Amino acid sequence: MLSKRLIDEMNIQIMHELASAHLYMAMEAYCASLNLDGFANWLKVQTEEERAHARLFFDFINRMNGEVKVYGIDEPHDKYASLLDVFEKGYEHEQFVTSRIYLLADIATEEKNHAAVSFLKWFVDEQVEEESNFLGLIKKLELIGDNTSGLYMLDKELAARVYVPPTITV
Ligand code: FEO
Repeated sequence: MLSKRLIDEMNIQIMHELASAHLYMAMEAYCASLNLDGFANWLKVQTEEERAHARLFFDFINRMNGEVKVYGIDEPHDKYASLLDVFEKGYEHEQFVTSRIYLLADIATEEKNHAAVSFLKWFVDEQVEEESNFLGLIKKLELIGDNTSGLYMLDKELAARVYVPPTITV
């Protein structure tokens, strides 16, 4: 079972994961408006991942006999000055999500809830990848600068990303 505090914070996390999906969909729309289909694809896959993250928290709360609460989400930021701006804001957002996952892991550890600690371990590792993905793209975009053939090549690379469901079952 889960404490009320963990259930409350995990329900808030469902909202943050869905807000992440919303944000990345808005970023996808920006990239699509620039005809950068590869970047748009990468963000579309990112959106699907975030929905899967929300679902994992939903299923975990249910499985642990907690009560799921679905909160509303705010309109996402959708004005971007450049591609670099998109990925800098994405990186900033992932750092926020990491802080949320750490908060949950801290509570689960403090409460000696080993089932929750084990579940959250997957998210701790996932956040390392999430931050690294965004930071990697920021560095590539900085290298590319205003070199359009470099941008075209990166767009082609990002077009190959496919959605892979989470490797965790609840
Ligand atoms: Fe669900 Fe990108 O963290």
